Amino acid sequence: MIDLARRAAGKAYVPYSGFPVGAALLLADGRVVTGCNVENASFGMTICAERTATTRSVVSRATAEQPRIEVAAVVGLKADGQPCYPCGACRQVLHEFGCRTLVVEADGSPRAHDYAEILPHAFGPQDLED
Ligand code: THU
Repeated sequence: MIDLARRAAGKAYVPYSGFPVGAALLLADGRVVTGCNVENASFGMTICAERTATTRSVVSRATAEQPRIEVAAVVGLKADGQPCYPCGACRQVLHEFGCRTLVVEADGSPRAHDYAEILPHAFGPQDLED
């Protein structure tokens, strides 16, 4: 998953930040969907890698059922070599589709987090149920 995320980072469109990020999502149906960040001259229109992968997993599904994200792997090529954790907006978007585990790369090895560690007390679809 980390390798796939790194490969996706290689596709990033980052003329403004020069900071490529890649994401790979393992879905409950066994599919793996990747994404990269796509920047824009109107900076606020930039889409993060995690959200690119999430929207791809919705539009590419074969059935009416929405994707369930088991694992999200994220690789950001940071100058300091430290792991790249998803921004707050992406944490929320991954949570919408039930993300259970986040994997980042730390010292060249995968580091896994239970999702509640990175988005405690999350607000989600269940909060809107009657
Ligand atoms: N970025 C991501 O793709 N994912 C994150 O979770 C953090 C930030 C991107 C957005 C922008 O293209 C670049 O990293 C610098 O913020």
